[in-house]
Amino acid sequence: MFKKVIAIMTASILAASMLVGCGGSTGASSSAPAEEAAEETVEEEAEAPAEDAGDAAAEAVGGDLADKKVGVCIYQFADNFMTLFRGELERYLIEQGFAKENITIVDGANDQATQSGQIDNFIADGVDVLIINLVNSSSAATVTDKVVAAGIPLVYINREPDADEQQRWTDNNWDVCYVGCDARQSGTFQGEIIADLGLDAVDFNKNGKIDYIMIEGDPENIDAAYRTEFSVKALTDAGFEVNCLDDQVGMWDQVKGAELVANSLSQYGNDIEVVFCNNDAMALGALQSIQSAGRTVGTDIYLVGVDALTEVVEKVIAGEITGTVFNNHFAQADGAADAAINYLNGAGNEHNIQCDYTKVTAENAQEILDSLQ
Ligand code: GAL
Repeated sequence: MFKKVIAIMTASILAASMLVGCGGSTGASSSAPAEEAAEETVEEEAEAPAEDAGDAAAEAVGGDLADKKVGVCIYQFADNFMTLFRGELERYLIEQGFAKENITIVDGANDQATQSGQIDNFIADGVDVLIINLVNSSSAATVTDKVVAAGIPLVYINREPDADEQQRWTDNNWDVCYVGCDARQSGTFQGEIIADLGLDAVDFNKNGKIDYIMIEGDPENIDAAYRTEFSVKALTDAGFEVNCLDDQVGMWDQVKGAELVANSLSQYGNDIEVVFCNNDAMALGALQSIQSAGRTVGTDIYLVGVDALTEVVEKVIAGEITGTVFNNHFAQADGAADAAINYLNGAGNEHNIQCDYTKVTAENAQEILDSLQ
């Protein structure tokens, strides 16, 4: 069941530090842990009309979805998770009645100037709705202004614009929303996967602490800061002492993840007990370096990621990766498409629509794998 909610985001959460280095991101303050955020979710059909549907929605004429043009901007095609996301988005849009030739999905190539040009082209082409995965979250206000000025409803995905920007959508009653998951929850689940092993199992060097390295994603996505902060917070909340040996930015990339973990392993060697990766692509890279260094996950080191890529879930089953967190691309893609449809048929949407992550360990990995296929 898809869940929607108006996220109550405090200024302190959205001011989460983008600093990297041990004690950098983890120092970001937050007053609402993932569990509380989860309690704020309201189970509700995504199709349900919102009370604050915007003006354009109220005037929408509806019509046959097969005639509607959808423009989709993805920040970068060369991203494993966003590849799954866009595949599901296209599949579901067609299932809902859109014509394949009316769905245009473009690659921002991780360049905001390129993406801004693509948005201009979509506006010039007169698309009926836009679904945008920003390259730079900080460009949200500019993008929103031009899309709203063109009278096109807008659904942001994956890279959440900040609280001030979302407040503008509410204040102006614009047909603009964000669909995504709360990354604090994914970080919390990563930390819990390690905490559940217990100190005796993790503390190989017997210093009484959990010694870890952190491989972060692109700071342009708040997911990176939240996963970094909340994975460690889950350990300290569970009463463990932690020791950050290294904290590096791997940009969600497998090759970078492998390089960074290889460097850390040569510098800190057997003192590294846990490798936290903000996503699975980097965890796959980390695993290559862990194995090259002669270390064995589950025996003398632990490794966790986020996304639940099929390859990673298979490795969780095989015991080669400790765990991951399912970043539900089905719920997010379908939710984004449903939000687009709600704008087109005049039902409107809440401005912030959230879904849940799922913890993946050896216990439920087969079940998750089955659900992915
Ligand atoms: C995250 C995902 C990463 C990467 C990123 C792109 O939610 O876990 O793997 O796809 O989005 O912004």
